Amino acid sequence: MFNKTDGVALPRHVGIIMDGNGRWAQHRGRARTNGHTEGLKNARRIVEAASRRGIRYLTLFVFSTENWKRAAQEVEFIMSLVKQHLTRELDFYRENHIRVRHTGDTDGLAADILSEIKQALGDTQDFDGMHVILALNYGGRNAIVRAARRFLLQGGATAREAAAALDEDGITQNMDNPDVPEPDLIIRTAGEFRTSNFLLWEAAYAEYFITDKFWPDFSTEDLDAALAAYAARERRFGAMTR
Ligand code: FPP
Repeated sequence: MFNKTDGVALPRHVGIIMDGNGRWAQHRGRARTNGHTEGLKNARRIVEAASRRGIRYLTLFVFSTENWKRAAQEVEFIMSLVKQHLTRELDFYRENHIRVRHTGDTDGLAADILSEIKQALGDTQDFDGMHVILALNYGGRNAIVRAARRFLLQGGATAREAAAALDEDGITQNMDNPDVPEPDLIIRTAGEFRTSNFLLWEAAYAEYFITDKFWPDFSTEDLDAALAAYAARERRFGAMTR
């Protein structure tokens, strides 16, 4: 197991695209919703493991701005899982000193979910352990547009002046959680080679690790394999090889 004392390059921020819950269930002849239940259980396991290994920030892609296109029953089920998780499992975060954060568009989320998110954020805001950022009603493009809007609405400048002043830093500083560093490593399960609109702005220099495992089967050993692969990569941030 990787841990804080190994001295290898540990990513500060890991993002995970938890894909394959539906296929995991279908392969077992079960309802897709069962895959999401198992997916949530696994999220807990991996959150705990990541925290033990000294990861400081973990962003989980829970529900995208595109996921609303799924069957209403599945959407309702995922939302109820998230709600239950935030209400009944706060002890889990407390015990592990984990701070819960949210990224995503609050417009479009139901009032009860929003209030649970607010509660979880408030209850855990002083914890000094890992930050878990739940990407819920999240889309990378949507996040960039919202950041640009925040920037443009900041000052009393004319539209022309504001547009001229807009730069990369202006977007970065107006993302949902500007204090969270950019992800170093993005893990994607279930074998697709796509970004799926996840952390588009922040992942400009992230390393990707893709595994065929469906999310409910992604184990702590798989997490260690991803961390080992990350530690072995040379990150150049666009610069030349030494
Ligand atoms: C992808 O599987 C997963 C989702 C759409 C999100 C569901 C995530 C959870 C239930 C975990 C929630 C975690 C927390 C911490 C609240 P898929 O249905 O797209 O799989 P498929 O591609 O095989 O159909």
